[in-house]
This record gives sequence, structure tokens and C-alpha cells, in this order.
Amino acid sequence: MIGVFDSGMWGLISLEYLQAELPQQSFLYLWDTKYLPYGNKSPEFLQERTFACLEWMFGQWCKLVILACNSASAYAIRSRQETYPDRKVLSVTVPGVEAIVEWDYHQAVLLATQATVESDIYHKVLRRAYPSYTSQLQCRVGTDLVQMIEQWADEQQILQQLAIVMQWCDDADCVILWCTHYPLIATLIQQVIWPDVHIINPARESAHKLWYYLKKHPEMDVHNQISWKSKRRENQYFVTGDMTEYAGIQVTQVIIESPISGS
Ligand code: DGL
Repeated sequence: MIGVFDSGMWGLISLEYLQAELPQQSFLYLWDTKYLPYGNKSPEFLQERTFACLEWMFGQWCKLVILACNSASAYAIRSRQETYPDRKVLSVTVPGVEAIVEWDYHQAVLLATQATVESDIYHKVLRRAYPSYTSQLQCRVGTDLVQMIEQWADEQQILQQLAIVMQWCDDADCVILWCTHYPLIATLIQQVIWPDVHIINPARESAHKLWYYLKKHPEMDVHNQISWKSKRRENQYFVTGDMTEYAGIQVTQVIIESPISGS
């Protein structure tokens, strides 16, 4: 069982990409509805809360967890890996950075939540993995866009907000949708930037990378280790808030305690 974690339900888009790449796998999807949104939370909260959710997922036999939530992975990815050497936590962050380098973009615009932008995670990953790569990374905070998408705001409102957020991006060669919600408005984003600016969707990139990762690490491929006890099951969906069904998906509420309960 591969775990997929997000603060909200739009990590389901990441799950769709993962399922398309790995149709035989079953997934456990946890969304932390109790504390949504993550994009305006403190680093301490995001780290502790994500760790608590990861512990819970490991306890559900997830050997491998994908952090679909960019705000969570910005603060939690590395330190947790050290605590659980036999488990793997992958995120959408690194494949997003790799895409910039692989396509040789040098004027990237990163559209992300406040928390992700403040973490400076992409500069850190870029400097560590590709120290000689020179690129201009401009960051744009789109926290309001998250709220608008959550509230199903109309296209004109979103376009107006995008025009503000994306102004002065004329020299960009790519825009990275560094938040689970932005793929939903990718066509609107394309309308406010130059037509030849490439939009990178880290959720799609990471699904593709996971396929390669599992080829290289068969020990993490839960599907390959199927026994009579654990043959492929349907996906399972869990929420931390008070909910039993969302958009036709049956969800199970779980209580996950974490040391920091505020924002
Ligand atoms: N899932 C968050 C992210 O990708 C966006 C929504 C939120 O703020 O919780 O950063």
C-alpha cells in the first residue's frame, strides 16, 4: 500500500497521476481536513503535524508515502527520512526542481503557498542537487488562489487574482504549479502568461519519477510483495475532520494527535 498525504482533497489529482503510472498499486490517501489549509501555517506546526500524519500512515503498513502537499513537504521531508530508514517518504518537491533542470529552464516562476515560498525549499534543493546550475527563481504567493479554488470562485475572479499574482512575469520560461490546487486552474494560468511559457506540474512529474524509483527499489514496491494475505485491495481514503463521504468517495475519519494543535 502506497500512502499519499495532503492537507486537502486536491492531492487527489496527484493520486490520479500515480494511479495512471502504477495501475496495479493500491493507495491509502490521507487528507488532513481538520487542519486545512496548510499554506498559512507556521513551520513548527507543519513539521509536527506532517510527522504525526506520517507516523499514522506508517502504522497502516504504508512502506512508502508520497507527500502530495507542497507546504507539508517543504518542512517535513528530510528529517523524517532519517527517523525511518526502512520507510521512504517522497515528495513532489524534488521532481519539480528536477524538471526545471532537465528542461533547461533558467527563468522559472514558482507559484506556491505562503508557507512553501517562505521555506525556500526549491532554492535549497536546487543548490544541493545542482550546485552549478544557474537559474533565476521568482516566487509568487498564491494563498488567496487556494481559498478561491476551495470556494469554487468563478473564473473571472480567479483570472483577476492571477493577473495580480503573475504580473511582471514577462521573462519567465516556465511556471511551476507548486501547490496541489493549481493544476485545477492551469488553463487560466496559461491565459495570463505568454503562450510559449511552459507550465510544470510537479504532481505529474513525481508520479513518473515514482515509476522509475520502484523499478530501482523493488524492496519498496509493495505490489511486488503481495502475499495471499495482502492481495490488491481498493484504495482507502481517510480524513482527520468530521466527514464520511466527499464527492462520492467514502472516507473514514481518524483521530491523529500531534504535539502542536494550533496554527
Ligand atoms: N496542499 C497545499 C499545498 O500543496 C495547498 C492547500 C493548503 O494550503 O493546505 O501546498
